[in-house]
Amino acid sequence: MRGVFVTGTDTGVGKTVVAAALLQAFSHAGLKTVGMKPVASGATLTRDGLRNDDALALQRTANLPRPYPLVNPYVFLPPVAPHIAAAEAGVVIQMQHILRTYQQLCAGSDMVVVEGVGGWQVPLTPTLAVPDMARALALPVVLVVGMRLGCLNHALLTARAIRADGLALAGWVANDVATDMARRAENLAILEQLLDTPLLADIPYHPGASNAVVAECFDAALRGRVLEIAH
Ligand SMILES: Nc1ncnc2c1ncn2[C@@H]1O[C@H](COP(=O)(O)OP(=O)(O)OP(=O)(O)O)[C@@H](O)[C@H]1O
Ligand SMILES: [Mg+2]
Repeated sequence: MRGVFVTGTDTGVGKTVVAAALLQAFSHAGLKTVGMKPVASGATLTRDGLRNDDALALQRTANLPRPYPLVNPYVFLPPVAPHIAAAEAGVVIQMQHILRTYQQLCAGSDMVVVEGVGGWQVPLTPTLAVPDMARALALPVVLVVGMRLGCLNHALLTARAIRADGLALAGWVANDVATDMARRAENLAILEQLLDTPLLADIPYHPGASNAVVAECFDAALRGRVLEIAH
């Protein structure tokens, strides 16, 4: 079983659309896929319990059906930092629980795509953070860079932290989160030079496009090299 862990330079930079696109691309490559969002804050209360949009998108896009609690074992109602949401809910996020759920989720699959939460250094409890989760799952990391002013610092710090945390950086995705970034080409060029990992896809801004449309575009860009990413 192979997989990837998708992180980003920030919240709202396109992790979910990239994770969904990776699932689609792996699916097109003939693999049996599952998606996971181990920790999510920001949910809707439904008849079936709390549901988070990212987790639902990953559940829907993967080609193996899996029950929601395996896709998203920790879900919290308010869209706030996860350690705060967990504390308010009286929940202690436990890596053992994430790992056991992950093993059940992945049984019978070829490929898993896991979306982190927020950026790389986000705390999950006072003593656990996103890197502990990626390490426990032992997955190579894909970094989504939201292309805007400030992204050079965010991207280079994140890449450095991923490697310092002992994880493999499998590649990065340049994703436009708005139109008209000044000197975009120059920003992209210096990131290509300094990140020292393959640029997997370079995605323009699709104003008003649904996640599915953006995911299609990512998918087209990723398809050729998608199998190189995961191990
Ligand atoms: N290239 C793009 N063009 C247009 N809209 C985009 C693009 N990439 C992402 N979006 C939109 O931006 C929003 C944020 O993207 P997404 O939800 O994938 O980010 P995220 O990093 O997963 O956020 P979160 O931290 O909340 O999980 C979504 O509404 C998505 O449809
Ligand atoms: Mg997301």
